[in-house]
Amino acid sequence: MHPLRSLILAAAGNDAIRRLVATAPVSRDVVRRFVAGDRTADAIGVTRDLVASGRSVTLDHLGEDVTDAQQADLNVRAYLELLDALHAEGLSARAEVSVKLSAVGQKLDERVALANASRVCAAAEQCGTTVTLDMEDHTTTDSTLRVLAELRRTWPSTGAVLQSYLRRTLDDCVALADTRVRLVKGAYDEPESVAFRGHEVDLGYVRCVNALFAGDGYPMFATHDPRLVRIVAERARWYDRKPGTYEYQMLFGVRPDEQRRLAREGETVRVYVPYGSQWYGYLMRRLAERPANTTFFARALVSY
Ligand code: FDA
Repeated sequence: MHPLRSLILAAAGNDAIRRLVATAPVSRDVVRRFVAGDRTADAIGVTRDLVASGRSVTLDHLGEDVTDAQQADLNVRAYLELLDALHAEGLSARAEVSVKLSAVGQKLDERVALANASRVCAAAEQCGTTVTLDMEDHTTTDSTLRVLAELRRTWPSTGAVLQSYLRRTLDDCVALADTRVRLVKGAYDEPESVAFRGHEVDLGYVRCVNALFAGDGYPMFATHDPRLVRIVAERARWYDRKPGTYEYQMLFGVRPDEQRRLAREGETVRVYVPYGSQWYGYLMRRLAERPANTTFFARALVSY
């Protein structure tokens, strides 16, 4: 991993830096570039605009690494409120939700996370939409896939996320290729024993694209990488996949012109929209991905 990336991800876990960044008033403006806002109403507003522009949405209520049951319950309730609002606004056909199991109790007990995620899946079904389970660091992968398998017994459309930087992931793609899978490169600072580095991550991504297209599932290719977007398009033609049998996904605030271009070409494009007050960990991962974002952020802090 690039040293700057490791440094930023290490800073993400440092309480003093967290307090400094979180209390700098300018942070709010910088955060707005990547986060829809604090409230459910902010998330709904952004979703409405994206849907009006021909894009689909997956919404993430920010929060992770929860260590008490009460906070896990509050996070579930936030999703239930969001799903109700999506339904009431007639947006649920174009908007699903993304859930981190660590936000709903995975660190407490896997069974707590399963019970809480089940509440979100049941509400999503009632509202005519579905859930994708985000994937976190490699120590959680087996647990997350176990919970996913349980959820799929009742809600088969529940989405998985697989990370091409993990050495194990091609096997996971083959195993899950008949299901709904979001493929990403991976955003955590992982040891070399479990994760590829540099170009190998991209090669892994392409191998996984092939494995997912070879199955009967619904692959969701989440990347901003222009080369990988081109390769996905080429592989879709090779596998005779029509738009609508797979989709592209990108993050809110990242390459919006490319999102619109793909949507204009008839592709399904889903934008991952985070909202809520617990934006720190999410923002640090975005900064770690791209030095240009870090410069933008540092400049904004300095000029304040
Ligand atoms: P990467 O960051 O390597 O960038 C490759 C190229 O893309 C760059 O060289 C540049 O050309 C272009 N690019 C990237 N960012 C740009 C920007 N801001 N502006 C302009 N060009 C840019 N991770 C995870 O571990 N678990 C998860 O559950 C998820 N979920 C998820 C959902 C969705 C919808 C997305 C898009 C991503 C995730 N991720 C994730 C994050 C993912 O793992 C990864 O960290 C980021 O997508 C960044 O990787 P890229 O594939 O975009 O390429």
